[in-house]
Amino acid sequence: MQRLAGQVAIVTGGAQGIGGATARRLAEEGASVLIVDVDQAAAEENVRTIRQSGGAAEWVVADVSKHEDIRKMVDEAVRRFGKLTILVNNAYNAGLGSNKGSAVDVSEESWDYGMAMLTKAIYLGVKYAVPWIQQAGGGSIVNISSVHGLLMAPDSLVYEAGKSAVIGMTREMAIDFGPLGIRVNAICPGHIVTERIRQRMWDDNPSGLRFFEQQYPVRRCGKPVDIANAIVFLCSEEASFITGHALVVDGGLSIQLQENIGVHLARYIQEHPDTKLP
Ligand SMILES: NC(=O)c1ccc[n+]([C@@H]2O[C@H](COP(=O)([O-])OP(=O)(O)OC[C@H]3O[C@@H](n4cnc5c(N)ncnc54)[C@H](O)[C@@H]3O)[C@@H](O)[C@H]2O)c1
Repeated sequence: MQRLAGQVAIVTGGAQGIGGATARRLAEEGASVLIVDVDQAAAEENVRTIRQSGGAAEWVVADVSKHEDIRKMVDEAVRRFGKLTILVNNAYNAGLGSNKGSAVDVSEESWDYGMAMLTKAIYLGVKYAVPWIQQAGGGSIVNISSVHGLLMAPDSLVYEAGKSAVIGMTREMAIDFGPLGIRVNAICPGHIVTERIRQRMWDDNPSGLRFFEQQYPVRRCGKPVDIANAIVFLCSEEASFITGHALVVDGGLSIQLQENIGVHLARYIQEHPDTKLP
C-alpha cells in the first residue's frame, strides 16, 4: 500500500541530489509532487522520470533565496494540485560549500546570502505553506540540516551556523504548529554521494572515496535514497507521534570517539599507501 496516497508535496531543490531522490520516493508512495528548482532542465528530467514510473509530478522554476519566488512556489502547488500537505526544505546552492572562513574572514555579503539560503528560505517556505497545510487538515514539514548542524568543521562559519539554526527552527516550528496538526522534523545527513558530489570529488579519486568511507562504521557513504527514505518515513502516518526531532542519518559517523577513528584511519593509510587523500 502507498504510504502517502492523496498527499501533495513541495520539494525545494527537487531536481537532483537528495531532493531529486526525495521527489521520486514521495511520488512512489502516492504523493503528488511539485519540484521547485533553479535548474529547469534537471527539474523537467526528474518530472519525466517520475511520470514514466506512474507518479504525479510537476516542476516550477523558483529561487528560494528570493521572497517572491517562495510565495510563488506555494501558490503554484495549490493551484496545480488543489492543496498542500508536505513541505521538504532541501534546496542547496553548491556555492555555499565553498563559502569557507571564520568570522574574521567571511564577508557580510556571504553571511547574508548563506543565511538567506540556509535559514530564511525555510522561515518563508513555512510561513506560506502552514496556512494551506492547516486548511488541508494537517501534514508534515521536513527541514534538511546536516551532521554539520551538530558537529563543527573549522573555517565553515556560514554553513555550520546555518545548519545548526535549522535544528532550532525545526524545534520552534514543531511547538508552534503541532496544535494545528502539522509535524516539523529535521534530518542531519552525513556525506551523501549525489550526482554532483560524485563528479566534483570522487570520479577522479576512487581511492579517496574508499578512504572517506573508512570514517563510517557502516563503511560506506550515503546515497540520496537513504535520506529520501527517512523523509518518507517522517511524512508518513507511522511517524505521527514524532515532531521536533533532528534525525541523524549518517551511517554512525557522528557517534564515534574521534581518537579511535583517527587510529583506524592511520592504519588504513599504512595498509593502502597508494590512497590519494580527498
Ligand atoms: N550531499 C551531502 O553530502 C549533504 C550532507 C548533509 C546535508 N546536505 C544537505 O542536503 C540538501 C541537498 O543537498 P544535495 O547535496 O542534494 O545538493 P545538490 O547540489 O545535489 O542539489 C541541490 C538542488 O538545489 C537546487 N538549487 C540550488 N540553488 C537553488 C535555489 N536558490 N533555489 C532553488 N533550488 C536551488 C540545485 O539546482 C539542485 O537541483 C542541502 O540542504 C544540503 O545542505 C547534503
